[in-house]
Amino acid sequence: MPALVLLGAQWGDEGKGKATDLLGGSVDYVVRYQGGNNAGHTVVVGDQKYALHLLPSGILSPNCVPVIGNGVVVDPAVLLTELRGLQERGVDTSRLLISGNAHLITPYHQTLDKVTERFLGKRRIGTTGRGIGPSYADKINRVGIRVQDLFDESILRQKVEAALHDKNQILVKLFNRRAIGVDEVVGEYLGYADRIREYVADTTLILNDALDQGKVVLLEGGQGTLLDVDHGTYPFVTSSNPTAGGACTGSGIGPTKISRVIGILKAYTTRVGAGPFPTELLDADGDALRTIGGERGVTTGRDRRCGWFDAVIARYATRVNGLTDFFLTKLDVLTGWEQIPVCVAYDVDGQRVEELPHNQSDFHHAKPIYETLPGWNEDITGAKSFSDLPKNAQAYVRALEEMSGAPISAIGVGPGRTETIEINSFL
Ligand code: GDP
Ligand code: IMO
Ligand code: MG
Repeated sequence: MPALVLLGAQWGDEGKGKATDLLGGSVDYVVRYQGGNNAGHTVVVGDQKYALHLLPSGILSPNCVPVIGNGVVVDPAVLLTELRGLQERGVDTSRLLISGNAHLITPYHQTLDKVTERFLGKRRIGTTGRGIGPSYADKINRVGIRVQDLFDESILRQKVEAALHDKNQILVKLFNRRAIGVDEVVGEYLGYADRIREYVADTTLILNDALDQGKVVLLEGGQGTLLDVDHGTYPFVTSSNPTAGGACTGSGIGPTKISRVIGILKAYTTRVGAGPFPTELLDADGDALRTIGGERGVTTGRDRRCGWFDAVIARYATRVNGLTDFFLTKLDVLTGWEQIPVCVAYDVDGQRVEELPHNQSDFHHAKPIYETLPGWNEDITGAKSFSDLPKNAQAYVRALEEMSGAPISAIGVGPGRTETIEINSFL
């Protein structure tokens, strides 16, 4: 069993943290391959609840090496705060490895993220304001600062100077903000260097050596397929590739090493931030999903937009990621509905379409076409096997599987590690 990828099949917050943590005990490495502290992954272990933003969820499994891959953008202040928070709770964080090629988020990225959003007004993306987009923009523009630059003061200074040259013009002249001083940034970031140095490594080499030795590597995505900058609902996306291809570029592991791609799929749909969402419910059912599902952002505390399951999205996720399996989460949240609508296709300007519209305007016009499935009332949180589920819950899962194009190999029936029905083993 070489490398596996675990990623969000919808708009994020599908339960990736829980699924990763569940597998964490059986794999040797867990690697974050993109995104940054825009992510919020909740892991519940016994009576302890952890909210992870930048650190891979594998950090909670004592025998697993957590890795921040080259594709991640790292805010060093957040990294150190998150590490300290875990250390204070008795978690051993000493195994962490960070790629020297990962890019840094700096204060000017955060400022630019926030002022750009404000400037966009009604057209804003609804970003998390963590500087993710501006940091990736600098990476692609070849003016980014990498983790390894922290260890050479003169290189760090040169790069910060070059980056601020344009940015200060933009901040001052376009956005009427104060200029950010080179010394201010360099001073602050040099202060992080010694605290981060011990974790920095050639992670690509280490991971490939580990695979050669037969170790198991789990690549953990942040965000989700529909937030992918290439395959998502652009421009209402994040600035990286959460889809399966991103796992290769963001870790330095080649596609031939990946044997399984697991899509985490919520039994209904949620989205945070702006952008199209065909099955969104702006009624009492939407409120009920939000309340029962605890659908409030882990990172920004914003209420999540909620809606019924969308099989068009799920099929799309199967296609663009080459999914081999689904991990269906939060089935327990649907307990108590008499009827559960599921979106099977869209009506786009009077035409029935079965696949995600290629044209963005068509997607904005898409109206869900629903099939209604019968609900169940029995408490399912204690279910340990598929046959423990009520017949209607079984039928709901089977229907989703049929519509979504890949086998459902696990089902979440509660937030805890053990509240999972395993159907096919992932390992
Ligand atoms: P992530 O970003 O994909 O890791 O997901 P989040 O942690 O942002 O949101 C998922 C939420 O659902 C968290 O509060 C999890 O504890 C919770 N959760 C995960 N799986 C299940 C499940 O099967 N049932 C219930 N009730 N909650 C779950
Ligand atoms: P996890 O890993 C849900 C959304 C933001 C916004 C858009 C762009 O917990 O699933 P960004 O700050 O990335 O530039 O914001 O992406 N977004 C998420 N939504 N879950 C996440 O992460 C998200 N990370 C970013 O709300 O719409
Ligand atoms: Mg989340």
